[in-house]
Amino acid sequence: MKPATPNVLKVRRAPRIEAEMTVPGDKSISHRAVLLSAISNGRCTITNFLEGEDCRSTAQAMRQLGVEIETPEPGTIVVEGNRGVFQAPKEDLDCGNSGTTMRLMAGLLSPQKFSCRMTGDPSLSKRPMRRVIEPLQKMGARLRAEGDKQCPPLALEGRGLEGITYRLPVASAQVKSAVLLAGLFAKGTTTVIESARSRDHTERMLEYYLVKLRQKEAWSGSSPVARKLEEIRISLDGGQILESRDFHVPGDISSAAFWLVAAAAQPGSRLLVKDVGLNPTRTGIMDVLIRMGARVREVVETSAHGEPSGTIEIKGCRLQATEVHGAEIPNVIDEIPAIAVAAALAAGTTVIRDAKELRVKETDRIAAVATNLRAMGAAVEEFPDGMAITGGRPLKGARMQSFGDHRIAMAFAVAGLFAAGETVIEDIACIQTSYPTFFETLKKIQKGGGGRRTPVISSLGAKFRSKSNAK
Ligand code: S3P
Repeated sequence: MKPATPNVLKVRRAPRIEAEMTVPGDKSISHRAVLLSAISNGRCTITNFLEGEDCRSTAQAMRQLGVEIETPEPGTIVVEGNRGVFQAPKEDLDCGNSGTTMRLMAGLLSPQKFSCRMTGDPSLSKRPMRRVIEPLQKMGARLRAEGDKQCPPLALEGRGLEGITYRLPVASAQVKSAVLLAGLFAKGTTTVIESARSRDHTERMLEYYLVKLRQKEAWSGSSPVARKLEEIRISLDGGQILESRDFHVPGDISSAAFWLVAAAAQPGSRLLVKDVGLNPTRTGIMDVLIRMGARVREVVETSAHGEPSGTIEIKGCRLQATEVHGAEIPNVIDEIPAIAVAAALAAGTTVIRDAKELRVKETDRIAAVATNLRAMGAAVEEFPDGMAITGGRPLKGARMQSFGDHRIAMAFAVAGLFAAGETVIEDIACIQTSYPTFFETLKKIQKGGGGRRTPVISSLGAKFRSKSNAK
């Protein structure tokens, strides 16, 4: 790998991986840790906070709203909770590239006593906001999107809200979280109903900060084999104040996903990722790689702050194609670019469906993945809600765009590790949004290093269990 300037990344084929690593703090959890600490009743110290640009946008917006945040050392922030009473910002709140910042803050700020405006970069300015506007308006909020097709900027006029019961039209943790956060300040009870389980970090963290939540699952089918989760109802009563507590952010499994794929697709590779989040609403990537033939084991070492975390071990093999669709999609939504690269390296045709949400991420990830994989010589058929990727042919290095999307840039850096010749990815500054240390890790992987060798089995002992329940 050559130095990442000027905004271009060059990658060449790498030797097999024999490495042990950690990854930076989880992005979704870091956002929520700042937001929930900010409305708590005291001081909260957050460790392993992700210092990527997206989470900085959230912290900066909180500062503009009068929340005191200090950074005593890298990766640690101390947030002074305001019991949910913010100050009117003097300027627009710039959410940068971060949909999570804008959507969650729409919920948090709609019930405040002032007006404000949230803006974003050109990518965020094209992302749909109707999904949060609609439920928040039902709660009585006054907010509107100023852009075309209900896209940002978002203008809010704070006012009192009423609790509602809202069935999510798309499986979206951001929408669920926006409604629940608004519900904390609303009169009465707010209930969100989801029919496929999206990441549940907001629920876990609210409970960790001692908010009373009620969760109810409805299953269909009488036999254990035919049982299917029909819906999950999450309810909370307004008026609860969060109890301030310290919080440790586990490593981001979505960042680990790139290296999991790199190790899985190379026979003889072995990778150990430590202190990584193992929340079951996020671990679908391991199920997918197991179905593709990789040997994956995980051990949960702690759930101390309401989020399970621990170690993943993965061993590579010749991958086989798989299918990814239905209720599994929300569980792997951010990993699909990496899964698509695994598919291009696997024998057979991998089919990904029910993933039309990918069209409205930081870029249209279906189009971006298809364009880049084709440039590398893979056969890709695009569907409105997914793609079919026929792998097994050798990939060739090519010059490609990141489309300003961090996960596209990183997924294709990994593809470059398997390609003949040089792979050049343009516009890679976006990687800073979620994985500021990506380049250092890539460099070690390129050199055939990556860390100490650990006697895996003995160090993990009997607690280590395999993900044998994978579909
Ligand atoms: C996120 C939820 C997901 C995910 C995004 C982060 C979150 O989006 O794609 O990167 O932190 O809540 P949706 O909730 O829109 O599916």
